[in-house]
Amino acid sequence: MGNHLALVTDMPSLVIDYDMPLLFDACQEVGIKAEICSWQDPDIAWDRFDAVLLRSPWRYVDNLPQFLEWCERVSNVTSLFNPLPVVRWNLDKHYLADLAGAGVPVVPSRFVPPGADPVVALRAFLAEHDGAEEFVVKPAVGAYSRDVQRFSRSAEDGAVAHLGKLLDQDQHVIVQPYLDAIDRAGETDLIYFDGVYSHAIRKRALLLPDGTVDEPTQQARAARAATKDERAVAAAALDAAAAHLKLREPLLYGRVDLVRGADDKPLVLELELGEPSLSMPFAKASAARFAQAISVRLEETSLKRKTR
Ligand SMILES: Nc1ncnc2c1ncn2[C@@H]1O[C@H](COP(=O)(O)OP(=O)(O)O)[C@@H](O)[C@H]1O
Ligand SMILES: [Mg+2]
Repeated sequence: MGNHLALVTDMPSLVIDYDMPLLFDACQEVGIKAEICSWQDPDIAWDRFDAVLLRSPWRYVDNLPQFLEWCERVSNVTSLFNPLPVVRWNLDKHYLADLAGAGVPVVPSRFVPPGADPVVALRAFLAEHDGAEEFVVKPAVGAYSRDVQRFSRSAEDGAVAHLGKLLDQDQHVIVQPYLDAIDRAGETDLIYFDGVYSHAIRKRALLLPDGTVDEPTQQARAARAATKDERAVAAAALDAAAAHLKLREPLLYGRVDLVRGADDKPLVLELELGEPSLSMPFAKASAARFAQAISVRLEETSLKRKTR
């Protein structure tokens, strides 16, 4: 049986990947031969792995074309988990529009393309959301709170400057109302393996009123049980993603981040199907569940290869 698995990181991110040691050990336990590899290591022959699992290559944000090229190369010689079309679709928060189109409740989002006038775009947003005291401006492609900023309605100049800066860098930008339920209850991140709910965490608000932006460190998180309505929305988001991408099997892993809107209903803030942080230290048995799901997927993959 093919059980040789690459767990992909990049060296600067490995030290903040708190899931990696737990997952590595759990893989050993179920008989998976796991190796921790940097996607930027030129000496690795990726075809010697039965599958390559994206874990923490988080610095790819600085090298997006190279990272995608690498994903393509790997996909041509072995199985990439999650598969390339999933990773590609999920890199860009325009997927929120696809989810909304499928009836999934998402954080109201206005997408602004490069070339747009930042003043016009912002005023259109503010007119549409006249009840929003505060709002958020963030890049469509981004991670780790990078370039995510919160503004109050009266700080239009600062918001226009930030929006203009991102547009000038040729980035697509998202403007959203600031959902202040996050200040009281945080966001809920739900983690799924093979389509099955595993665990959830609470992440506290990262955009502070004074404009400071915190990183989603371990200290910002705590274990939390997801509620029934949160699980329903998260499952709907994963189903919609699978339908949109025409997947034949459940996603091997996925994370759905939810914040409650003004009416207290959960809304999708982010769907992470590429290289999600899985908060395994907050739910120790989750590593064993993930390793088991990977093991089954590896077996199916090697069977498919044989019968091809
Ligand atoms: N509309 C919003 N309302 C309230 N907080 C937000 C909103 N958008 C982003 N945030 C805060 O900023 C953080 C990072 O934004 P997110 O959309 O998750 O992007 P990233 O891909 O950088 O994680 C979130 O974890 C949350 O704390
Ligand atoms: Mg996030």
